[in-house]
Amino acid sequence: VSQPAALFPGRSNSAGVEFGDRKALAALLSARDRGGVGGIEARCALSGITGRREVVRSPVDGAEIGAAHVLSAEEARQLVDEARRHVARAERIPARDRASALRCAADEMERRRGPLLALLAREGGKTLDDALAELREAVDFCRFYAGEAERLFAVPQVLPGPTGEDNRLVYRSRGVAVAISPWNFPLAIFTGQVAAALAAGNVVIAKPAEQTPLIAAEAIDILHSAGFPKEILYLAPGDGATGAALVSHPATALVAFTGSTETAFAINRALAARNAPIAPLIAETGGINAMIVDATALPEQVADDAVASAFRSAGQRCSALRLLFVQDDVADAMTRMIAGAARELTIGDPADPATDIGPVIDDGQLRMLKEHAERMAREQKVVYAGSVPGNLPGAGHWFAPHIVALDKPQALDKEVFGPILHIVRWKAGELDKVCEAIEATGYGLTLGIHSRIDETIRVVSERMTTGNIYVNRNIIGAVVGSQPFGGSGLSGTGPKAGGPNYLARFAREQVVSVNT
Ligand code: NAD
Ligand code: ALA
Repeated sequence: VSQPAALFPGRSNSAGVEFGDRKALAALLSARDRGGVGGIEARCALSGITGRREVVRSPVDGAEIGAAHVLSAEEARQLVDEARRHVARAERIPARDRASALRCAADEMERRRGPLLALLAREGGKTLDDALAELREAVDFCRFYAGEAERLFAVPQVLPGPTGEDNRLVYRSRGVAVAISPWNFPLAIFTGQVAAALAAGNVVIAKPAEQTPLIAAEAIDILHSAGFPKEILYLAPGDGATGAALVSHPATALVAFTGSTETAFAINRALAARNAPIAPLIAETGGINAMIVDATALPEQVADDAVASAFRSAGQRCSALRLLFVQDDVADAMTRMIAGAARELTIGDPADPATDIGPVIDDGQLRMLKEHAERMAREQKVVYAGSVPGNLPGAGHWFAPHIVALDKPQALDKEVFGPILHIVRWKAGELDKVCEAIEATGYGLTLGIHSRIDETIRVVSERMTTGNIYVNRNIIGAVVGSQPFGGSGLSGTGPKAGGPNYLARFAREQVVSVNT
């Protein structure tokens, strides 16, 4: 079993740069950048499908960095028609060969880390730390699902039966799998979905988010170069309409989706409306994630973990902290400490190793955050509003961390995807009410508990339906294989990505019983 790269930050890799060597990586990154991340054209390789060319701009400075050839709904349907012709071929590739191709892809990602890191910074606005973590996660997904393909698919499972009867369970591919991903993990989530679907022997159509098609194109190129034929793995650059057309096609046999809860609902409805076999939907969606802090918690640790959870990746993680519940007795001191730590964060160009917070992804997100901050200023109490340094490129999408004190948790009534932390006080004896308020959001993605009382940790963990619970640490950065990731309720369907039950969902089970 391979150990996740994410657990070995200082590990060497093939081109002689240490994973953890930030200075060397920064130099590599800016050299690539000067050479131009620009010039990538993300397109579907199928002849006859040209798409509509749309320029991709960097969230850092608005510079043109490439283009996507966006598939129309008609082209998306054409693509599924073509993909379905290759289902038998995909399934004939032995599981061991699929696994070894995924391991080659992991090695190739490590080798191409220069362009990948540069793209993560330029197209995704990722800081160097975030880009490294994301690259490691993508590598981990490839190696983890390779191992899972061997475990589940290479050998049939022999089941018990009476003498003279041979029962075997085999996993077969489902057919055409459509993978639809968000912009906030444009490499790791994109690769994870695609790697799982390929590992299970499907023909895969991968639709990246409209904001981040270039890094997706690089990932697809890596998977092709690792041995997956072009006929069983297709890039489908596009927008919501492209995704909707892929989902609605009757030959689509499975949809793996990560993104907002609203889009998951739309996909669910589209699948249900088809006159076609029932296709499963794996949906990993949003969250209003909370952290509960009682008076026994270590203040410095809480401040560190709250700041990392709320502001790292500019708060643009589905796992990010939105609601911090702090016990009254320590709330003033804790709020001061967290605001002090937030003040120390550096906002800037993500390629600069000193930067803590890069840009938000686009104009729409920036507008939404500004509007939410204005509403909070009117209706609640803003305890810290960071400011954006004047020397940053005007065309970039910059938003500084904010901290808001809420009079009640219900004042945050939607997922606000960005660096805004909301703090709510609770009194001793009200822990149950706090849990109730968190459950009442309907979401259940991540939850933090900071307490040195074992009973509190046990009671809260047992009571909550949240998918990933973290105790006395931050609530972001789940490690593949160690912290299988995914939520419940409005946060997703499961199974958890990077966990032991994920791959089976991408496959069909078949039992063959032979009367010997
Ligand atoms: P989004 O739902 O707007 O878009 C996600 C993808 O769906 C994009 O590729 C988009 O083009 C596509 N899409 C949009 N409409 C569609 C339709 N009708 N049919 C098919 N596809 C369609 O989400 P986003 O803004 O890109 O990402 C942010 C959201 O993703 C947040 O809510 C965040 O919490 C969530 N997210 C969840 C996880 C998780 O693991 N649970 C991880 C990352 C992000
Ligand atoms: N898997 C990502 C995290 O845990 C979303 O932060």
